Amino acid sequence: MRYRRRGVALLAALVSALACAPADQPPPSAGPSTAEARTVSDARAGAPGIGDADFPRDGNGGYDVAHYAIAVDYTPATKRLEGVTTIEAAATQALSSFNLDLSGFEVSKVTVDGAPAGFSRQGQELTVRPARAIGDDARFTVEVAYAGVPAPVQDADNLGVYGFIPTADGAFVAAEPDGAKTWFPANDHPADKATFDFAITVPAGVTALANGELTGRPATANGRTTWRWRERRQMVTYLATATLGRFELREGRSGAGTPVIAAVDPAFKKSLDHVYETSGEVTDYWATVFGPYPFDSTGGVVDDYAAGYALENQTKPMYGGFDPDETIIAHELAHQWFGNSLSIRRWQDLWLNEGFATYAEWLWAEHKGKGTAEASFAQNLARPADDPMWAYPPGRAKPNDLFNQSVYTRGAMTLHALRKAVGDKTFFALLRTWTAEHRYGHVTTDQFVALAERMSGKDLGPLFDAWLFQPRRPS
Ligand code: TRP
Ligand code: ZN
Repeated sequence: MRYRRRGVALLAALVSALACAPADQPPPSAGPSTAEARTVSDARAGAPGIGDADFPRDGNGGYDVAHYAIAVDYTPATKRLEGVTTIEAAATQALSSFNLDLSGFEVSKVTVDGAPAGFSRQGQELTVRPARAIGDDARFTVEVAYAGVPAPVQDADNLGVYGFIPTADGAFVAAEPDGAKTWFPANDHPADKATFDFAITVPAGVTALANGELTGRPATANGRTTWRWRERRQMVTYLATATLGRFELREGRSGAGTPVIAAVDPAFKKSLDHVYETSGEVTDYWATVFGPYPFDSTGGVVDDYAAGYALENQTKPMYGGFDPDETIIAHELAHQWFGNSLSIRRWQDLWLNEGFATYAEWLWAEHKGKGTAEASFAQNLARPADDPMWAYPPGRAKPNDLFNQSVYTRGAMTLHALRKAVGDKTFFALLRTWTAEHRYGHVTTDQFVALAERMSGKDLGPLFDAWLFQPRRPS
């Protein structure tokens, strides 16, 4: 769900109505049939990208997704996925056709509002041509049936392997930045958030872990089990997961009462209690620092796929092939506020996710009496002037090097420099105001700078410019 600026469209409509209406005739009827005829005759193709110049083909224009209902049937032995994804969307222009993002698979059928629609594929774009054009502002439902062996993104010299990754016992699904399209048709860019329902059918004995909470007990028939999960809060596509395999589960509540779901591959059995307890403790602590926990459950998943990284999948961060320590759990759970509840509109602002989650690691150490944020800051500031981190301005993440160390560490240092400039009281009030004002929404760097200036009463332009945008070590 995105928020569009209506003022401009309304003004344009008014101007054209005034220009076209002969002065001596009554204005044209504003009845629904006239309005619909006009918008549909204006219908044109939705853009193949959502408007992020760094990722020009990701996401799409002309509509806004409200909800995904993803039904997938997956067989680990053959790696075959059969999916039906139903998307509820609202048009932001009259549409003769529109695109979804989908990578791989055979598409067998597409319907729009129940009627068969034409479709074609080109690279990762699935173009849908509804039988009747869709009017501006109209709500519509698209259903896509597809099947095949998922092919995750393989980006050897930058991001590694991500998306829907088949494993021996199931799948490891971690899709940042744009791998959701490797398992469901999507408006695959964080600028369009939506709620999600998942119905995942797997051989009995396989556990399916998606975002949010179970909506009922898993039901088994003919040797196959369907797991139904629902994430009722807005979520970006890259955080959607359907991680499958053999898992040991522990469920309960954190001290403050948030439901906790921990799941570990049997190879990481000894981590189950640690992941369960630490995730609950960290979630509760962050709620005292960042503001109320934004989601209905928390937890963590440890799979045996040796990704070597973790991803902050909404409500269920995932750890790929290692026993997560407190620091990384603190990082991934900080993302539930920074990245998940508050999401970026464009990838260049990624420090708003990673800089904040890295700063949270330093805050966690401070909380535990294992070092101070000031010490972490000083240690990094002592890096030599020719350290590559100083050449990479973290406020402008580069599409070919998105997850650069600078976005994490220098991003975190930016927050510490800010904290020192405004004082602890203002700094922590700022973090809570930031998460409250943009809960479940979108954010930009400019908005953060403006809020920091408003709350501190200081001109912070030079500080943010030096820390975020200059290719050298701030003095
Ligand atoms: N956002 C992750 C983190 O820092 C890192 C990450 C980037 C990632 N791309 C990914 C993890 C793809 C898994 C898959 O916590
Ligand atoms: Zn992170």
